[in-house]
Amino acid sequence: MAIAGIDLSDTAFWGLPLADRAAAFALLRAQQRPQFFAEPEAPFSEKGPGYHALVRYADVVEASRHPEVFCSGKGATNIVDLPAEFNEYFGSMINMDDPRHARLRRIVSHAFSPRMVARFEDDVRRAAAEIVDDLLVTGPCDFVQHVAARLPLKIICGMMGIPDDKYEMVLTNTNIILSGADPEFLSEDLDKAVTQVLGAGQALADLVTGLATDRAQASTEARPGDLVTELVTANIDGEQLTTAELASFFILLVVAGNETTRTALSHALMLFTEFPEQRALLLADLENRIEGAVEEVVRYASPVIFMRRTLTCDYAINGQDYHEGDKTVLFYYSANRDEAVFADPEQFDITRSPNPHVGFGGAGRHYCLGAHLARRELTVMLRELLTRVPDITAGEPDRLLSSFINGIKHLPCQFAG
Ligand code: HEM
Repeated sequence: MAIAGIDLSDTAFWGLPLADRAAAFALLRAQQRPQFFAEPEAPFSEKGPGYHALVRYADVVEASRHPEVFCSGKGATNIVDLPAEFNEYFGSMINMDDPRHARLRRIVSHAFSPRMVARFEDDVRRAAAEIVDDLLVTGPCDFVQHVAARLPLKIICGMMGIPDDKYEMVLTNTNIILSGADPEFLSEDLDKAVTQVLGAGQALADLVTGLATDRAQASTEARPGDLVTELVTANIDGEQLTTAELASFFILLVVAGNETTRTALSHALMLFTEFPEQRALLLADLENRIEGAVEEVVRYASPVIFMRRTLTCDYAINGQDYHEGDKTVLFYYSANRDEAVFADPEQFDITRSPNPHVGFGGAGRHYCLGAHLARRELTVMLRELLTRVPDITAGEPDRLLSSFINGIKHLPCQFAG
């Protein structure tokens, strides 16, 4: 592959086999300076100025450390700017800068602290055990549908107090929102696709607004202890979420919390199939090695491929100049394979230490709010799965066509059971 042949804005690039994509990113990292790409066509806005692809670990980390320069609020964190009507639903804290970002994060972060997540630990264990019970009854099946998609959905809906009969609707709408360019979920007619995405946002916003109204009206004694109740009644230094903020935060949570964790779980099965010696190593000392295994799955899979930042002023990082208004795209997927930081990066190594991956984002203000929860879900599920179904293996994955989520739509699994 030649450098001139690499176009990260071409949908076809994201349909290439993973090994070819990894080779392309290795070539991009070897260049003197970050490459500049024209933007992909988008149905909802004018074509923008293009972007610098930050593919080296050092650049991604440096940009993450300076959110006052590399901001998230100008036109959002997608490559193409989001128009105002999209921001209404999808514009939560991930697309904000301080002071609005800090205010929202202050109100909601308590609900995701390790102490709060510990409250849900039993639910996570119970849900994982039930999913594996069902898997053993079902037999070889689509791992995404029967295992990977179920746990995060059940946990996030449980935390929010969403009734079981709404799970399917939440799943369908989050699939639409994060479908990238994949025709399985989104129409190929661009106008129709925009209507579908906005409709999905509206449906989820209606769901949570309804729940919030019920919770706000309930008497203090009658209020259940779920996250929606926490959020509608949270009052941090006199600050509360508005209904619109609650709706867009909820959408961010279900979208960010479901697809990512599901993707990590599906990759985990593929990785433990491709690297059987790593499965044996893990099973030989599960309690001591599971934490490292989860970190390595997130590094290797990099479920979130990138986030964009926009320059608020002229700035130089690692000897390269950028100008106010420039778009930079932080490729976490590539940073997690940077040979300068990770020896033999294409080797899946559950004992890798240290493992300072940026799978949950670079350290800084936007570091994943759900990282602790995601780590718990992955730990509990992998422990349950690999001890109770130790011979489970993955077949050929059907991958999501997306530059943003390294997703797996379907994954056949086999086991003797
Ligand atoms: C393996 C699973 C996960 C991965 C790989 C992941 C990845 C990420 C990444 C890369 C970011 C950084 C965004 C940026 O740089 O702008 C992020 C932010 C975020 N994540 Fe996660 N995530 C995961 C699970 C979760 C879960 C389970 C939740 C919640 C239930 C969650 C909620 C969020 C939120 C709310 C933000 C925005 C934080 C902010 O802007 O301050 N994530 N995540």
